[in-house]
Amino acid sequence: MNIVLVGTQWGDEGKGKIIDMLTQDADYVVRYQGGNNAGHTVVVDDKQFILHLVPSGILHKDKICIIGNGVVVDPEVLIEEIKGLRKKGITVDGNLLISDQAHIIFPYHKMMDKVREAKKGKGKIGTTGRGIGPCYTDKASRCGIRLADLFNDAVFREKLKENLDEKNAIFEKLYCCEGFSFDEIYRQYRKYKPRLKKHLCNCSKVLNDAIAEGKSILFEGAQGTFLDIDHGTYPYVTSSSATAGGAITGAGVGPRKINKVIGVAKAYTTRVGEGPFPTEFSSRMMEKIRTKGKEFGATTGRPRRCGWFDAVLVKHSVRLNSLDELVITKLDVLDECKTIKICVGYKIGSRSFTDFPSDIGALSRCKPVYEEMPGWNEETVRITKYENLPKNALRYLSRISELTGAAISIVSVGSDRKQAFKV
Ligand code: GDP
Ligand code: IMO
Ligand code: MG
Repeated sequence: MNIVLVGTQWGDEGKGKIIDMLTQDADYVVRYQGGNNAGHTVVVDDKQFILHLVPSGILHKDKICIIGNGVVVDPEVLIEEIKGLRKKGITVDGNLLISDQAHIIFPYHKMMDKVREAKKGKGKIGTTGRGIGPCYTDKASRCGIRLADLFNDAVFREKLKENLDEKNAIFEKLYCCEGFSFDEIYRQYRKYKPRLKKHLCNCSKVLNDAIAEGKSILFEGAQGTFLDIDHGTYPYVTSSSATAGGAITGAGVGPRKINKVIGVAKAYTTRVGEGPFPTEFSSRMMEKIRTKGKEFGATTGRPRRCGWFDAVLVKHSVRLNSLDELVITKLDVLDECKTIKICVGYKIGSRSFTDFPSDIGALSRCKPVYEEMPGWNEETVRITKYENLPKNALRYLSRISELTGAAISIVSVGSDRKQAFKV
C-alpha cells in the first residue's frame, strides 16, 4: 500500500505526528518537496523531536527514510539534524537515503530570501528565510546545483562560479550588499561531501524496486495545500508542489503506483506568514487558541495566526488532492469552547458562494459565512476510542466530514504518539 499524506490547510496540521503513527505499516517514508522550511513534530513519552529535512518515520529504526529529488537540501542543516537525532539515541545511518538529484541550498539563496523580503517591506510573503524560494527559482532557471554536481568537482566549480558571478552582481548593484567569496563556499561545501556520500541514492530506482518487491511507501508531504505553488493563495505560498501531485515528480514514482491519499487538517485553522485568511480570529479568541494549541512555529518560532475551521478551504483541498481520507488533529484544543463555528461559505458584499476563489484580491475581501455548533466542554486528551468522544465532538466531526465530502479516518487529541485513534 503506497500512501501520500498531505496538509490540507496552510501547513502545521500535525503531519509529522500522523506520519510517525502510519510508519508502523510502511517500509519506506519519503519527503518529496520543500526543505527545512518544514518543521514536523513527533512527541514520544515527553520527548519532542522536530524534523526539518529528515522524514518523520526516522524514529522507527527498521524503516528506510528517503529525502527525494523534489526536496531542496541545506547540507549544514541536514548534518546538524542528523547529529541532533543521534544525540537523542536515534539511529541515522543506512536507514537514511538522499536523492542525488536533490537541489542544494547555498548561503546566497538564504541571503536572497532575506533581501527580497526586506525590499518588499509591507508586501512581504513572510517566508521562513531558509532560502527555499531562491533555490527553487534556480532549479526552474536551470542554473541550480544538485547533490550529484557537488560530487563532480569540475562541474561543481563551474556552476558555483557562474552562480556567484550572477548573484554577486545582483547583491551589489540591486541590493547594495556584499556578495559571497567563491573560495569560502567551495571549501565549506567540499567539507560536507564525506558526511553526505554514504546517504546518496537514486530515489526513483530505490522506490520503484521496493514497490516491485511489494514494499509499502509512505510519502510525507510538507507545508500544506494552500501553500502549494500552483494551487495555493499565490503569491503567499511556498515554491514547491505541496499537493499530492508533488509526490509523483518529487520522488520519481508514477501516479498508478499510489493507492491512497490522506489529508491532515486541524480542527481549526492556522497560518504562519502573510496572506489572506478569511476565518482568522479576532484578538481574544486568537490568544486563547494560540495559547491552548501552543501555536508557535516549529521552524521559526513565530506565533501562528489562528481561526475557525474553514470547510470551503478543506473541501477544495479534498478535490485538489483526490483525498480518500481526512485526519483531524488538535480536537482537544477546542475542548473549552462554548460554541464552535465552521465556515460553510463566503460572502463578498451581497454575493455568496461556496467555492474557493483564485483571485487573491477576492479572497482578501471574503467574509466567512458561519454555522454555529455547541461545544462539548469536556476534556478529550485521555480518550482512546472514537465512540467515547463527547456527543457534540462527534457531531462536529461528522459535520466536517459532510461539508468537506471526506471520510474521517483518524482523530488526534494530543501531541503524544499515543493520543490518536482510528475512526
Ligand atoms: P506539521 O508541520 O504538520 O508536522 O505540524 P507541526 O509539528 O508544525 O505542528 C503541529 C503541532 O501540534 C506540534 O507541536 C504537535 O506536537 C502538535 N500536535 C499534533 N497533534 C496534536 C493534537 O492532536 N493535539 C494537540 N494539542 N497538539 C497536537
Ligand atoms: P510544515 O511542513 C507552515 C510558509 C511561510 C510563508 C510561506 C513561504 O511544517 O507544515 P518559504 O520559506 O517556504 O518560502 O515561506 O510558506 N511556510 C509554512 N507554514 N508550515 C510549513 O511547513 C511551512 N513552510 C513554509 O511561513 O508564509
Ligand atoms: Mg510544521
